Amino acid sequence: MKVYLETYGCQMNEYDSELIRSILTSQNYELVQAKDSADVVLLNTCAIRENAHQKIYHRLDELKGQKRRGEIQVVGVLGCMAQNLRKDLPQAAPIVDLVAGPDSYKRLPHLIEAALDRDTVGFDFSLSEFETYSDIAPERVPGVNAWIAIMRGCDNFCTFCVVPYTRGRERSRSPESIVNEANSIVAQGFKQITLLGQNVNSYAHDGSDFADLMEHVAKVPGLPRVRFTSPHPKDFPRKLLHLISEYPNLCNHIHLPLQAGNDAVLERMNRTYTKKEFLDLVDEIRTIIPDVSLTTDVICGFCGESDDDFADTVEVMERVEFDSAFIFKYSERKNTIASRKYPDDVPDEVKTERVMQLNALQRGISRKRNQAEVGKTLEVLIETKSKKNDKEWLGRSDQNKGVVFSAAQKKPGDFAKVLITEASTNTLRGKLVNEAIHLPIVVNGH
Ligand code: SAH
Ligand code: SF4
Ligand code: F3S
Repeated sequence: MKVYLETYGCQMNEYDSELIRSILTSQNYELVQAKDSADVVLLNTCAIRENAHQKIYHRLDELKGQKRRGEIQVVGVLGCMAQNLRKDLPQAAPIVDLVAGPDSYKRLPHLIEAALDRDTVGFDFSLSEFETYSDIAPERVPGVNAWIAIMRGCDNFCTFCVVPYTRGRERSRSPESIVNEANSIVAQGFKQITLLGQNVNSYAHDGSDFADLMEHVAKVPGLPRVRFTSPHPKDFPRKLLHLISEYPNLCNHIHLPLQAGNDAVLERMNRTYTKKEFLDLVDEIRTIIPDVSLTTDVICGFCGESDDDFADTVEVMERVEFDSAFIFKYSERKNTIASRKYPDDVPDEVKTERVMQLNALQRGISRKRNQAEVGKTLEVLIETKSKKNDKEWLGRSDQNKGVVFSAAQKKPGDFAKVLITEASTNTLRGKLVNEAIHLPIVVNGH
């Protein structure tokens, strides 16, 4: 049986797709790149905003013809949208013959068998309190970066968010299993590991916290870069900040989701921090890790957000000057606390206007922050060819900024010292510094 798997949503879904590939290939399924030759099409889906659902409905619509002609035998929906809609999904989209949530992937071979028996839909959307897939070696997409999910689920229950319902309760893997996986990743030639969790700083396993785990991973021999995403601003151990500043392989980039800048909105969101606490945390991070880059997520138009409330978000964005930001319109999700407690009362035009305003503000800030890199020599890890010019490389600095430059003798996975000569909102450009000539290396502009 040939299986074609498509992945939507966040990095956690990318990682899960690697687990799914591994589970299926061990059971004699063949994963194919071309969807036209597949017997089974699986969509690993997201539910975070309504447009994530819409995208999948649209995709299912496109698959209808192939299914009718018998070219595809099974269409399966996996991941967060599957968990979110469960049994309603085959009713809403009758071509679906398999529905499996994020904790059910070990049962996929069985579910595909069940779905091949035309009269039944293969269902499994039970959420487990224990499943961490520690015993499955993911079949990774070759490249520079490898993901490791260190925990699954989320217990934060931010009131706008569907994730606690689609991914269930928080559970952490043992540090030993994570460090073993990190060692085997290094042996396979990856240059970077990104530790994943919905809320990585809640990591807890038999007395080990996230900072303990980061230290173990930082000490893995031969691992030049470690990243993590996402932490929650509410529990940021100082120990972690000191580790990031001390270990050269712990990258100086923190994704710190703000969501909103107004205290009343933050409280309705159940974010458990205030504007002041967030700003104080940013100051502390920048004191301990002076050259850190900070990125964020913001939601515009959450229930009851007035113009004045929104002005607080603008103020925080102006004061912090994030390096970049993902800015979203609030999208009500069924069964979340917000959908039960608060009316979705900000008009769509107002949400759109706020998103546009913040995007415009952030573009200016990102450009300014990037221009501050001009004149520095940065260590860049080459990831791929540049999209615009295949004679140039796209790599990333320690701060996670995209850097475009040419270097005929280099390849993906190599490090290069690059003198930054130009900066735009989204990328830096630079020149390879000839490493053979030992010029004094400019660090931090000095
Ligand atoms: N666990 C991560 C967030 C994962 S979702 C964290 O806490 O950082 C990624 C982002 O999607 C969130 O940070 C939030 O900004 C946004 N988001 C979540 N639910 C949303 C909703 N209902 N409407 C709009 N944006 C939402
Ligand atoms: Fe959602 Fe909040 Fe958990 Fe992030 S921390 S996944 S926003 S509930
Ligand atoms: Fe990720 Fe979307 Fe699920 S953001 S956790 S795939 S709802």
